[in-house]
Amino acid sequence: MKKNSEQNASGRLNNLLAMDYNNLMAEAVGPAGLTPDDLKTIREVLASAARNVEGQYKKGLLPFMDLPFKTEDLRKFQSLADSLKKFENVVVLGIGGSALGTKAVFNALRPLNHNLLPQAKRQFPRLFVADNIDPEGFAVLLDGLDIRKTVFNVISKSGATAETMGQFLIVYDRLRHDLGKTALKNHLLVTTDPEGGVLRKIVDAQGLNSLEVPPGVGGRFSVLTSVGLAPLAAAGVNIAELLAGAGQAQNEQTKDVLANPAYAFAGLNWFLTARRKRGSLVMMPYADSLALVADWFGQLWNESLGKAVSLSGKPAAAGQTAIKALGATDQHSQLQLYMEGPKDKTVCFLRCENFRTQMVIPKVFEEYPELAYLGGHGLGELLNFEQRGTARALAENGRPNLTITLPQVNPSALGYLLHMLELATVVSGCLYKVDPLDQPGVELGKKYTYGLMGRNGFADFKKRYDRAKPDPRYILP
Ligand code: PA5
Repeated sequence: MKKNSEQNASGRLNNLLAMDYNNLMAEAVGPAGLTPDDLKTIREVLASAARNVEGQYKKGLLPFMDLPFKTEDLRKFQSLADSLKKFENVVVLGIGGSALGTKAVFNALRPLNHNLLPQAKRQFPRLFVADNIDPEGFAVLLDGLDIRKTVFNVISKSGATAETMGQFLIVYDRLRHDLGKTALKNHLLVTTDPEGGVLRKIVDAQGLNSLEVPPGVGGRFSVLTSVGLAPLAAAGVNIAELLAGAGQAQNEQTKDVLANPAYAFAGLNWFLTARRKRGSLVMMPYADSLALVADWFGQLWNESLGKAVSLSGKPAAAGQTAIKALGATDQHSQLQLYMEGPKDKTVCFLRCENFRTQMVIPKVFEEYPELAYLGGHGLGELLNFEQRGTARALAENGRPNLTITLPQVNPSALGYLLHMLELATVVSGCLYKVDPLDQPGVELGKKYTYGLMGRNGFADFKKRYDRAKPDPRYILP
């Protein structure tokens, strides 16, 4: 990671993450790439975005930026985790921002087989995140758990999301039936807004255990609040180090705005989208432990930046489509398209320098040259060489790509990465001139669902739905 400390214009050692954008430059990829003049433009635009972000922060509009320093809450989450150790299972009921961060961090920082390990090895409860309402999936999950050894963490900032509320009602009813109204309280923990929403009303009326989602922190920016920290601490994640890494991303001070990874990520991708028609960004981790970071990032980037109108009310159709991939697996499925298909994508590789487990390929069948080159190399080495080879091949084909490297997947590096990408999202909001904190586009579909489900006050949507009768000519029987 020496290279990165050299890159950091402030001279401050940043050993948590390195970003290499050589393959975005015209020198490497030809006309699709960036020239020194383009970097000058990006720097200017970013300098103005930095002032804008600073202004918003000072007005208290970006409270997620304070989260890494809320260390006073750590003790609370840690003692909660201690009290949950007696359970075999912690099940999060939540969706979107109330689930994806927890899934990404859990997958990255606990052994990939955490839930399969015997208790003595695991030492912490198993953690499940139920973020869909497919009855088959949810039934299988519930039927496989001993409800007496399970605590359900219902997470909904709004306290109104149909999917989470549907799960909550099923679980509440089951707990009441199996354990009784008094005992069920030991098996429920509700995380929701401190004041608003029906879930908070139920918490107050029933005297349920609860945590608060800090006001002003939206779902997709909430992994470092009670939303993520409580279940993650319960599953044995070192949340203090996670926050410390995030704090370093927040405190990143560089003389050159392009030497700050959050700003560089935002500025480079914005330029490629706005000026080079690279409307999609493939996030491609080369580590199973980082696979779900791509899902979390997909929500963050797509929901925050995909907006119909700009801040001044002009039509915008803004955003860059984040697509998830996994190396090396998707080299054998998606890569052909990225290499030779439409020239509308940038690829962001996400890799780690050192894997936590080494596995050496044995020197057998050395008489076959087709296999002999593998013997003696590590599997991680092969994976990392595949990433490098793919990056180089894309560049040679005129396909811009950049590479983010963590020295190792550990809590502080992951905290840095997640917070850096959240910052980059807010900076990107300034560049696209849209509000990255709202999601008006998802409301209409919810209203139709309410109408179809017969919710009071939404009958008009049911009528509207029924009026748009499908034409049988376009339906295949
Ligand atoms: O980022 C967001 O705000 C959304 O994706 C929400 O997290 C998601 O809709 C779930 O909302 P809630 O936590 O209110 O149930």
